[in-house]
Amino acid sequence: MALTTMTDAPKGAGPSGARHVAIIMDGNGRWAQMRGRPRLLGHHAGAKRIREIVEACPDLGVKYLTIFAFSTENWKRTQSEVAGLMSLFRRYIQREAQDLFRRGVRVRFIGDRIKLDPKLVQLMDDLELLTSGNDRVHLTIALNYGGRDEVTRAAKRLAYEIEMGRLTHKDVDAETLARFLDTHVLPDPDLVIRTSGEARISNFLLWQSAYAEYEFIDTLWPDFTAGEFARIVQGFAARDRRYGGVKAKA
Ligand code: IPE
Ligand code: IPE
Ligand code: MG
Repeated sequence: MALTTMTDAPKGAGPSGARHVAIIMDGNGRWAQMRGRPRLLGHHAGAKRIREIVEACPDLGVKYLTIFAFSTENWKRTQSEVAGLMSLFRRYIQREAQDLFRRGVRVRFIGDRIKLDPKLVQLMDDLELLTSGNDRVHLTIALNYGGRDEVTRAAKRLAYEIEMGRLTHKDVDAETLARFLDTHVLPDPDLVIRTSGEARISNFLLWQSAYAEYEFIDTLWPDFTAGEFARIVQGFAARDRRYGGVKAKA
């Protein structure tokens, strides 16, 4: 009898490689403050790191990369920081769209778009459409994303389907609920990295990370390099993921 039942593994989890890596890109503000510069400068420096990390993915076997850009809690920041971030997101999409397309990156956005500026939402929709035929790397950007918010919106839509008579309460199981999440087309993350030394989740991919491995590193996001990313992803292969089962014999 097999001691480990990999069939219990969440959908998409590879046997050893990190197929889906999610990153909480934290520390931009401190990076700038350490240099006596405005926080927004740190956000701009942080945005510039994304390309190198995306480009490192194919060689590392990372097919899915999900990055946390703005949380449902980040609206609590000053009006000028929020406005600066929103304008950075617009400029980032405008500047990077063609390059992402040419490099075979498929871009998706998760999070609630309702609170976002319609002009930004239009750019997000356009980039998703432009890159929808790509398959080299799947980059998902979490923007106005919160795990609790996502599960709540999914529950609301599920309740609506029941109200409409298209589902009944008997259909409600984990798999059905997951179909209503923003991430419904993505495998669960294998590895979640958080930069900047904070060891917390901050409402990121709560449902999807049930069995993810975590890596908390001190590097501030604008200092994060493809080299450090590669070391972490390669280190992941040595981890023993048991999913509640028993350690497999060598
Ligand atoms: C992460 O960097 C980016 C966003 C949350 C938008 P922070 O802005 O949180 O940087 P610190 O944590 O203040 O250093
Ligand atoms: C998490 O970072 C959100 C993003 C990286 C976008 P925060 O800096 O907002 O998290 P807390 O406030 O330290 O928990
Ligand atoms: Mg932070």
